[in-house]
Amino acid sequence: MASNTPSMFKSSLMKWVDERLPLTPTIKAHLTEYYTPKNFNFWYYFGSLALLVLVLQIVTGIFLTMNYKPDAATAFGSVEYIMRDVDYGWLIRYMHSTGASMFFVVVYLHMCRGLLYGSYRKPRELIWIFGCLIYLTLMGEAFFGYLLPWGQMSFWGAQVIVNLFAAVPFIGPELAVWIRGDFAVGDATLNRFFAFHVIALPLVLLGLVAAHIVALHEVGSNNPDGIEIKKNKDPKTGVPLDGIPFHPYFTVKDIVGVVVFLMIFSAIVFFMPEMGGYFLEHNNFVPADPLKTPDHIAPVWYFTPYYSILRAVPPIFGSQFPGVAAMGLAVMIFFALPWLDRGAVKSIRYRGNHWKTFFAIFIVCFVILGYLGVKPTSVWGQFGDWSSILDTKDRATWVARLCTVGYFAFFFLMPWYTKVDKTKPEPTRVTWGDAAPSRAHSAHAAAE
Ligand code: HEM
Repeated sequence: MASNTPSMFKSSLMKWVDERLPLTPTIKAHLTEYYTPKNFNFWYYFGSLALLVLVLQIVTGIFLTMNYKPDAATAFGSVEYIMRDVDYGWLIRYMHSTGASMFFVVVYLHMCRGLLYGSYRKPRELIWIFGCLIYLTLMGEAFFGYLLPWGQMSFWGAQVIVNLFAAVPFIGPELAVWIRGDFAVGDATLNRFFAFHVIALPLVLLGLVAAHIVALHEVGSNNPDGIEIKKNKDPKTGVPLDGIPFHPYFTVKDIVGVVVFLMIFSAIVFFMPEMGGYFLEHNNFVPADPLKTPDHIAPVWYFTPYYSILRAVPPIFGSQFPGVAAMGLAVMIFFALPWLDRGAVKSIRYRGNHWKTFFAIFIVCFVILGYLGVKPTSVWGQFGDWSSILDTKDRATWVARLCTVGYFAFFFLMPWYTKVDKTKPEPTRVTWGDAAPSRAHSAHAAAE
């Protein structure tokens, strides 16, 4: 009787709560009775890891805000104060700066999985669109955050990026002043970027992530075979035959991912927080100086593929707008993906050579553009100087141009090559190791 008391208390407490809030039905719908394809692989770690990093960024961000000063006169000093005098301030700051880069590592791998298995296709278009909006918001969040330490790179990076808006025809210059709140990046800019970074965009991000997951749970997860598990349900229970409850099966699997991720994350935080200047740039340990332009201004690595596209497109009649437009298009084109792909199958496992070739070209071009984007313009030569085609200095510009073409070819030619591609027949049930039937069986037994 005595041993039953805690569980009786628990069940009557749950009953009390359930009568006021649908807690048990929510746990069932999203965890214990959310049937997830049993053939998830390595690529399926990154959604939960993105959630983990999101929480990490918010928690460390709250603690940073307790000591950070959003004022051009004191911002740099307050970051130094956090690093040297605040108890464990260095740890919180390094976790936040490493978290920013790791967020992009995780999100890029998460997006890559979407491409590999056609997860953006019907009926998951909205999951993808919410994902693209998250990606845009994340870029804004990282950009605004980068100004806050008020180092040389913060200042000049923001200066360069805001100036891009000045290239917009007709309204450009006024638009740039409106964004900065001043004629140059200054205190007003820092204040508004702080407001966006600590409250506006995190709220948007949280809302979008919630919508992303609700949409996912409405249609169900895709899987490495790209087939719909809801098409094969147990006639008695209505449970997908290839589905297993998310909890406990995938919560346990995700813990493995979390442990490995935290090992890598801690190694970076404790042993190489600057990551050779890729996560924290050397120049950003120098206070912002509006009178001294650094020799080499480059954005952080996660923006560099787009920065290369910007630099690769030559100005027309002295206007940088074509480059700015190409860069914007390179990001926005992701939204159109569900409607560009006309393939008969979703997963790379059953796609033909056309898709595989264009996908490989896309990945290679993206990586090369990213690499070139961190290199100084001196390596690139005089970009836009069409007369120097054979000039060795200018080779990088031509490589970047070629890669820009490769990048866009993946998207713009997709309606054609996915249509003509010779695909393999999809299986009707998901493919999994030999142990599949018995494990799936026990999962169903547990669910029943
Ligand atoms: C803060 C960033 C993000 C978080 C926290 C997040 C979270 C998640 C989670 C938890 C899942 C389910 C688990 C999984 O399939 O791995 C998921 C699925 C998915 N996400 Fe994200 N996501 C983020 C960003 C993105 C972005 C940027 C995109 C694409 C542009 C995207 C596209 C997708 C798609 C298509 C699925 C369904 C995948 C499938 O069923 O195969 N997500 N996301």
